[in-house]
Amino acid sequence: MANSTKLKTHKFDAIIIGAGGAGLKAALQIGKSGAKVAVISKVYPTRSHTVSAQGGINAALANVSEDNWHWHMYDTIKGSDWLADQDAVEYMCQKARETVIDLEHNGVPFSRLDDGKIYQRKFGGQSQNFGKTQATRTCAAADRTGHAILHSLYQQNIRYKTHFFDEYFCIDLLKDKTGAIAGVMVLSMATGEPLIIQAKATIIATGGAGQIFNTTTNATVNTGDGLAMALRADIALEDMEFFQFHPTGIAGKGMLLSEGARGEGGYLLNGKGERFMEKYAPNVKDLASRDVVSRSIYLEVKEGRGCGKNKDHVLLQVHHIGADKVKKRLPAIRDLALSFTGLDMAYEAIPVYPTAHYTMGGIPTNKYGEVVDDKHQSITGIYAIGECACVSVHGANRLGGNSLLDIVVFGKIAGEHCIEFLKTKPQHKKLDDKILQKIEKRFWSWDNNDGIEDVYQLKTELKETMDKYCSVFRTQKILDEGVEEVKKISERFKNVKLSDRSKTFNIARIDIFETENLIQNALATIISAAARHESRGAHSRVDYPERDDKNWLKHSLFYLKDLSLKYKDVNMKPVSVDSIPPKKRVY
Ligand code: FUM
Repeated sequence: MANSTKLKTHKFDAIIIGAGGAGLKAALQIGKSGAKVAVISKVYPTRSHTVSAQGGINAALANVSEDNWHWHMYDTIKGSDWLADQDAVEYMCQKARETVIDLEHNGVPFSRLDDGKIYQRKFGGQSQNFGKTQATRTCAAADRTGHAILHSLYQQNIRYKTHFFDEYFCIDLLKDKTGAIAGVMVLSMATGEPLIIQAKATIIATGGAGQIFNTTTNATVNTGDGLAMALRADIALEDMEFFQFHPTGIAGKGMLLSEGARGEGGYLLNGKGERFMEKYAPNVKDLASRDVVSRSIYLEVKEGRGCGKNKDHVLLQVHHIGADKVKKRLPAIRDLALSFTGLDMAYEAIPVYPTAHYTMGGIPTNKYGEVVDDKHQSITGIYAIGECACVSVHGANRLGGNSLLDIVVFGKIAGEHCIEFLKTKPQHKKLDDKILQKIEKRFWSWDNNDGIEDVYQLKTELKETMDKYCSVFRTQKILDEGVEEVKKISERFKNVKLSDRSKTFNIARIDIFETENLIQNALATIISAAARHESRGAHSRVDYPERDDKNWLKHSLFYLKDLSLKYKDVNMKPVSVDSIPPKKRVY
C-alpha cells in the first residue's frame, strides 16, 4: 500500500486521547467553555476501563465517622511509602469533598446511608488522627462506583456536545518543527483509514498498562498506548517500577474482587483457617495497604499455608456479615465470583490471590496535569491525566479509592488549565513533515514486512515473562534475567507478521500496535525495577529488604531511546500544611 502524507485532517482546539473518567472529566470542562474539543477512544466510551472500578472514591466527607482532608493526605503519603509528591497529594485530598459533591450533582447515583447522606465504607490504609484509628472514607455506588461515574460523565459530555471519535486507535503523537506536540495520527477501526487530528492542546488519558501481565484485573484494552506514545515522542516515564498487585483477584483468573469486601467486614483465611493478616498488620489486619496484604498472601502460600488441593491461594470470606448485606453492598462482585468460580459469596468463601492491578508510574506531570521534564519544567500544550499520568499522588503504592479521585480531580484541573492555555490564542502548528513521514512509515511497515513471528504468541510470552520475573517479590538476578527476556521479545517483534492485510480487517493491525506498546511498557517497568536497589511500597526486593531514603527517595525517569534512566527529587513541600516527613511504615 502506498504511503501518503496527504492524510485527511481534522482540527480541534483540544483533543483528549482516551474516554475513561479522566478524559471525560477534562472534556466536559473544556466543552463547557465553548472550545472545540474531541475525545478519541479505541472503544465505545462507556466501555473504558473506569467502568470496572468497583469499591469507591475517597473523600473525607465524615458522613459515617469523624474525618478531614489532612488525615487523608497523611494516609496517602504513608501509603505511597513517601514517594508521592506532597503538593499534589495535598491538592487532591483538599479537593476530594467538592469533587464527590460535584459528581453527585452530575448524576452519579451514590448509595445512601439511612439519613440520606452519601454512603461511605472502610478501605485499606485509611485512618483518623494520623494513623490512630480506622477511618470510613470511601464513597460508593454499591460496588459499581466507576460504572456510575463513567456513565454520568459520558451523559454530561453528550449534553455539552463533545465530539467523539469512537473506535479510533491512536498511532502516535505528532510534532511541529520545534518539537512541540501538535496532534495525533489515528486509525479508523471501521474503515482502516489513517487520519490526522490536529490540536492546539493534547491531553493523554489512555489509562494503565496492566496487560503487560498475564494475571490482571485490567481489561484487554489496557495496553499502555498513551504511555508508549509518550515514550516514542521522547517523553520519559516516571516511577514505572511501581506496579500495584491487588490482593484479591479471583485465584488463577485475576478478576477483581473489590477491597470493599474487606471494607464491609470480610477477611482473609489461610489453609489452616487462620486470619493470617493479624500477624502481618496487627493493628488494621485485613485493611492494611495493598502492597502489605499482597505480600502477606504470597508468603502464606509460599510457606505452605495456602488453600485448595495445590495450596496455591487463600480465601476471602464475607458471608459472616450476612447474605442480605452482601447482596446489597457487593452485588457486582458476588455476580462476578459466581460466574467465574461457581461460588456464592453471600454464603461461601472465594479463592483469591494477588493480581496485577494498577500502573503507579506514568507520564510525569505537575498538579495541573501539564507534562513536565526532568527539571519539573512544564511542556506547553501537552497534558496527561489519570492512570497514564504520574502526578505523583500514588508514589510507590496507591491507596484503594484514590484512583477514581485522581481521575476526576486531575481531569478537572487539566481541563481548566487547558481552557486558560487556549485563551492565550495558540494556533494550530505546522506539522514536522519528517516526523509525520516516520510515523506513516511505521504505520505501513507491517504491510511490507515478511516476518514470521506470531503476534499473539509474542504477546503471551511477554505477559508470562512479566508474571515470572517482575512480580510481587523481586531480586536482582530475577529482574536481570527478566530484562534480557523482554529485550529478546522486543527484538523478535521486529520480525512480526501481519496476519491479515485487508484494509478493513484492522484487528490484526491493532494487535501489532498494541503489542509493541506493551513491549515498551514492559521494558520501562522491568528496567526501572532492576535499577532500584531498595524496597519501597509495591517494589519489594528480597535482596534489598529495607527502604533506603538516603539513596532512593527519588523518582525514576525511563527513556526509550537508549533504555536509560535518570532520577529527580520528590516534592516534599505541601503549600498549606507542614511536610509529612518519612518514617517507618507500619499498619
Ligand atoms: O478494590 C477495589 O474496589 C478497587 C479500587 C481501587 O483500585 O481504587
